[in-house]
Amino acid sequence: MNVLVIGGAGYVGTSLIPQLLARGYRVRLFDSLMFGGDPILPFFRDKNFTFVRGDVRNPEEVKAAVQGQDVVIHLAAIVGYPACRKDPKLAEEVNVGGTRNVAAAVSRQQLVLFGSTGSNYGSVEEVCTEETPLHPLSLYGQTKTLAERHLLENCATIAYRFATAFGVSPRLRLDLLINDFVYKALTQGYLVVYERHFMRTFIHVHDMGRAFLFALDHQHQMAGKVFNVGYEQMNYSKEDNCKIITRHIGCYVHYADVGEDADKRNYVVSYKRINDLGFNTTLTVEEGVDELKRALQAINFKTPYTNV
Ligand SMILES: NC(=O)c1ccc[n+]([C@@H]2O[C@H](COP(=O)([O-])OP(=O)(O)OC[C@H]3O[C@@H](n4cnc5c(N)ncnc54)[C@H](O)[C@@H]3O)[C@@H](O)[C@H]2O)c1
Repeated sequence: MNVLVIGGAGYVGTSLIPQLLARGYRVRLFDSLMFGGDPILPFFRDKNFTFVRGDVRNPEEVKAAVQGQDVVIHLAAIVGYPACRKDPKLAEEVNVGGTRNVAAAVSRQQLVLFGSTGSNYGSVEEVCTEETPLHPLSLYGQTKTLAERHLLENCATIAYRFATAFGVSPRLRLDLLINDFVYKALTQGYLVVYERHFMRTFIHVHDMGRAFLFALDHQHQMAGKVFNVGYEQMNYSKEDNCKIITRHIGCYVHYADVGEDADKRNYVVSYKRINDLGFNTTLTVEEGVDELKRALQAINFKTPYTNV
């Protein structure tokens, strides 16, 4: 199978690509390398790996990259509301315009797997299912919602609304809630936490890669649909996460009254649709916190890896 991963040099893609190569798939990575190329160097040892440096905003480059591919996994984006807020024009061009270029380039025979997000829901009182109306509150959620809808309307697409990722990946991000808390707990010795009761769900970045492999194995049942991807037992409040972190890393936690999340991510999500097909996550927040602690202590880096 020939698999193109657009935006695969990032946090999710660099965890996914080794899993695709381990299955013997031919993997073409298309990326502008916003965060550099170091994390993809180990992939070149595999003869099934090829790299194309390109920009998803360029329709001709995207058209050339999809040629001969059976599956396109589309991950390229300006990710997270702080990065989108910093450069709204770029966020719209990449997240919406880039996705339109992908949709225009593929044929109906090529399957598209899309890395969408739970930020599409906005602030929701009831448990979110895939049928819950989307009311994204930030530019990030709004651009991802438009992109998701465009792909579903125009291509053979499986859209994954992922929980918030955590864990170690070759292109590490420390702007994700759990990763950020672990980094701060280690470097500052304390955490200042607002909206302590806000509920979110979490998924290890390795399990996000596993979910894409699962889609390749179940494409006939899944094509044309949206799936929440995560695990119900990992619906945690910020305070729950702080308790896990303080068990692993002795640090002081101050719960503050000021500060807010632009996406107002305070929701509980149902994962029944994908669980019923047989997909379950494997790695817990406890395991992710332990892995992050060991990695961050070992490499003793000076600057946080962030998307902003
Ligand atoms: N990490 C999460 O918690 C999470 C959760 C839900 C959904 N997602 C989605 O998964 C996808 C990947 O997220 P990530 O965490 O790996 O982000 P990331 O920022 O680490 O990676 C994004 C990748 O896209 C590439 N890219 C950006 N602009 C590009 C352009 N114009 N042309 C080509 N490549 C470009 C970057 O170089 C980078 O390699 C995104 O679409 C994101 O919305 C991530």
